[in-house]
Amino acid sequence: MTDTPRKILVTSALPYANGPIHLGHLVEYIQTDIWVRFQRARGHEVIYVCADDAHGTPIMLKARAEGIEPEELITRVRQEHEADFSEFLVDFDHYHSTHSDENRELAAHIYTALRDAGHIETRTIDQAYDPEAGMFLPDRFIKGTCPNCGAEEQYGDSCEACGATYSPLDLKDPVSAITGARPESRQSEHYFFKLGDFEAFLREWTGSGRLQDAIRNKLDEWFDAGLTDWDISRDAPYFGFEIPDAPGKYFYVWLDAPIGYMASFRAYAEKQGLNFDAWWGADSDAELYHFIGKDIAYFHTLFWPAMLHGAGFRTPSAVFCHGFLTVNGQKMSKSRGTFIRARDYLDHLNPESLRYYLAAKLGAGVDDLDLNLDDFVQRVNSDLVGKLVNIASRCAGFITKRSNGELAAELPRPDLHEAFVAEGDAIAAAFENREYAQAIRRIMALADQANQYIDEAQPWVLAKQEGREAEVQAISTQGLDLFRILIVYLAPVLPRLAADAAAFLRLDSLAWDTREPLVGRSIEKFKPLMTRIEGETADKLLEASKATLAATEPATTPNTDSEPDVDPIAETIDFDTFAKVDLRIARITSAEHVEGADKLLKLTLDIGSGTRQVFAGIKSAYAPEDLVGRHTVMVANLAPRKMRFGVSEGMVLAAGPGGSELYILNPDDGARPGMRVK
Ligand code: 2FM
Ligand code: ZN
Repeated sequence: MTDTPRKILVTSALPYANGPIHLGHLVEYIQTDIWVRFQRARGHEVIYVCADDAHGTPIMLKARAEGIEPEELITRVRQEHEADFSEFLVDFDHYHSTHSDENRELAAHIYTALRDAGHIETRTIDQAYDPEAGMFLPDRFIKGTCPNCGAEEQYGDSCEACGATYSPLDLKDPVSAITGARPESRQSEHYFFKLGDFEAFLREWTGSGRLQDAIRNKLDEWFDAGLTDWDISRDAPYFGFEIPDAPGKYFYVWLDAPIGYMASFRAYAEKQGLNFDAWWGADSDAELYHFIGKDIAYFHTLFWPAMLHGAGFRTPSAVFCHGFLTVNGQKMSKSRGTFIRARDYLDHLNPESLRYYLAAKLGAGVDDLDLNLDDFVQRVNSDLVGKLVNIASRCAGFITKRSNGELAAELPRPDLHEAFVAEGDAIAAAFENREYAQAIRRIMALADQANQYIDEAQPWVLAKQEGREAEVQAISTQGLDLFRILIVYLAPVLPRLAADAAAFLRLDSLAWDTREPLVGRSIEKFKPLMTRIEGETADKLLEASKATLAATEPATTPNTDSEPDVDPIAETIDFDTFAKVDLRIARITSAEHVEGADKLLKLTLDIGSGTRQVFAGIKSAYAPEDLVGRHTVMVANLAPRKMRFGVSEGMVLAAGPGGSELYILNPDDGARPGMRVK
């Protein structure tokens, strides 16, 4: 034990029970699981719970589309989720469902407490209603033309083209995504949670070191905008819990979702004979942490603590938000095959490779992180196979073959052992603070040192010399001792590899504070602990992902859990920055192939004040003869670039993902060469 034992309850966000686990989800479960395993290795009492988020309209409609009851759907999906998590070595103490007796009771209890304390209000509101489906429509189930920018096919709450938010009743030409009918406006009585009642409490709570800076800043914006009442009811038909004393009205899925954390814990506590109040009561001395994505911070940092406080429960010690996963630098995309499901990954690759790679990139902030598949293969092969496992495989053979499996009685370099142990505190601090990338950097620096020691000691040279067996045994023992320390540090990230290594070294514990040198004992024969990833595996995975998708799409209803397939809008810039870009109308006066270049065309552009030569990567989409005489837009003040084929004096603008899907911009008739675009 490194410090006094703590009682720590940890959760990850509850995945919706209508879709598969994908790599975007796994960032969070892996991040949480590493933290949980680390805390357990430090000797703390840790309970890690989760559940499927089983309620709401998308789940109800998906079940309908499959011709089954929602209960059947959520049972099946829960099994799939649990199998995925377990194969990714995510070690929940308990996995539950929000559609459970515990959750029904707790949701009713919390709601009633809030109502009795005067924090619930009812109001009649106008809402979009689908007369054909006979139901009110959630915003995401209405599509139409953006009232702000005119973009078509936008969802009812916000526009993906211009970012505007609005009421679905403001959309132009709205249609129901369920039936295609034109929605009508109808009135209905709704139940509201008066969040504003908790403003003073929330300002205090959110300002007391429980949140990351980026989230704190977001909260300041939310406080400035004013805390508005939260609509917590939905009309039948709805898959969820009926509100006590309000027939036909159901709790909105987000009301009972976080209560699912408590419900999962309660089910576990009953099984284990734990005292629920010791963990959730207002006076609990346990710590409570929620790991979530930054997109659901509002629910977890405002609604949730207010609900808990208002109903007399303890509130979270902290909420840890992470960013989103991009794949090869872009938002996960179904058409590129980078929308990778957990199952497809597992069919091709070792789960611990992903755990390692994500750990090597994760920090404590909310920045997005990128899974670059080439880098992934390279990194796993070089760090885990080339450095870590290599230490053991270089030493083990000598011990097995020449020392009968017996390690030396002493280390030749106790100072190295001490240095490795001493680094443990800094590594532990990094894990504790969720700075995993930093922890991994430190651990890999030690792995380099261990390899360097073996390189210099050259046991393979000594092994060929008479009478030097004891030295070879000592060097190999030292190598394995250092390897053991690295395994202890990496066990939260690589639990299976660590367990296999422990079996090989005959260790009975991987507790963090293992300090005794690994000497004077015997070991098992070495078996490879991890193998290299072949280069083409990542390509095969992308192909398989596309195939899975083709077999399962198109979805008939929007799935609130999946991300739309669009490039994200880049970071905001101020006007002055934009104004620095000098965009001009250009006329393409000539276009020709470039000898030796598969993607480029050489364009000559008339920009009024003169001509420019530009090499443009649009050959996959345009034949030169189609371009001559057309007007387009160019960046006229881009610094000239020297290319293999000549100097490129600017850039023409084109839209699209690439290949044949590339469209150069055309101004309306009347625009003349040299006109500035602004
Ligand atoms: O965003 C989501 O995927 C939600 N299902 C998360 C719920 S977390 C908690 F509040 F239950
Ligand atoms: Zn718009």
